Amino acid sequence: MAKPIVLVTRAIPQEALDLLAVHATVDANVADVGYTPEELILHAQSADAMVALLTDRVGEPLFAHAPKLKVVANVAVGYDNIDVGAAAKRGITVTNTPGVLTDATADFAWALLLAVTRNVLPADRYVRDGRFREWMMMEFHGAELSRRTLGIAGFGRIGQAVARRGRGFGMHVVYTNPRQVAQAVEEETGARFVDKETLIATSDVLSLHVPLNAATRHFLSDAEFALMKPSAYVINTARGPVIDEAALARALNSGAIRGAGIDVYEREPVVEAALLAAPNTVLAPHIASATTETRTRMAMMAAENVIAVLAGRPPVNPVVPQA
Ligand code: DGY
Repeated sequence: MAKPIVLVTRAIPQEALDLLAVHATVDANVADVGYTPEELILHAQSADAMVALLTDRVGEPLFAHAPKLKVVANVAVGYDNIDVGAAAKRGITVTNTPGVLTDATADFAWALLLAVTRNVLPADRYVRDGRFREWMMMEFHGAELSRRTLGIAGFGRIGQAVARRGRGFGMHVVYTNPRQVAQAVEEETGARFVDKETLIATSDVLSLHVPLNAATRHFLSDAEFALMKPSAYVINTARGPVIDEAALARALNSGAIRGAGIDVYEREPVVEAALLAAPNTVLAPHIASATTETRTRMAMMAAENVIAVLAGRPPVNPVVPQA
């Protein structure tokens, strides 16, 4: 019997390709450059399964040309790049990679947080430019974290991991979430549940960990920035459209907030020119999960989900369409 065909839409760690190759014929794009929508459809036509990356837009236009497709395994915890409802209508399973990128993402939120609150990038440039002549008392003052308030929007795995780190830094942690989490989790993370307005008005550092959906699009816009402390920092490792990027640039330029650490963008890979020019801003190219260990685990998890579905078993990490 012919092996099923698994489409892998861009470069992933070799271990995952090797695992897939035991069970399937692998049609892999080995370049770390995504296919165009036309190329994607071309390759999807004969695919029984697809390992997708978050740069792929996967929905009805593709499904209509992929009659054999049984599963789309996204190599990401977020799946806003996939039309889950359209997949469900066609009986196509969608999976994601929760859990394996929690620590890497929380670490990187903290990397941005520390970099922006302690002026790491301007200080680095200062030294490289040969401007460091002697120790200075009054330059590069940043913000101290201990006893300050760390606000977390979205208190799932990653938000909680960011909270634990905040506790380690001696911060008071508050969070908002659609539902208050169990008391045991609040006790272990040291976080207190508050409403969105309180979170925004009281945070010295506000870190975003909500999924992107209709309720969270532009979670922060002009009105919210106006409510924030002028000394506050915003960190975003979630999804770009959770922040109104033009409003963020306005807030940074007008001094409505003090700084931002941003890993994700509203129209990725495009970044608002005003944000590129904004003061006190650390920008990264969507790399919060980018450690060798985590990216390998993510790809392996996607491969395991594909193999399960092709073997007629339930996948480990199905995405359930919202009602
Ligand atoms: C995700 O998994 O959703 C990240 O954005 C990419 O690692």
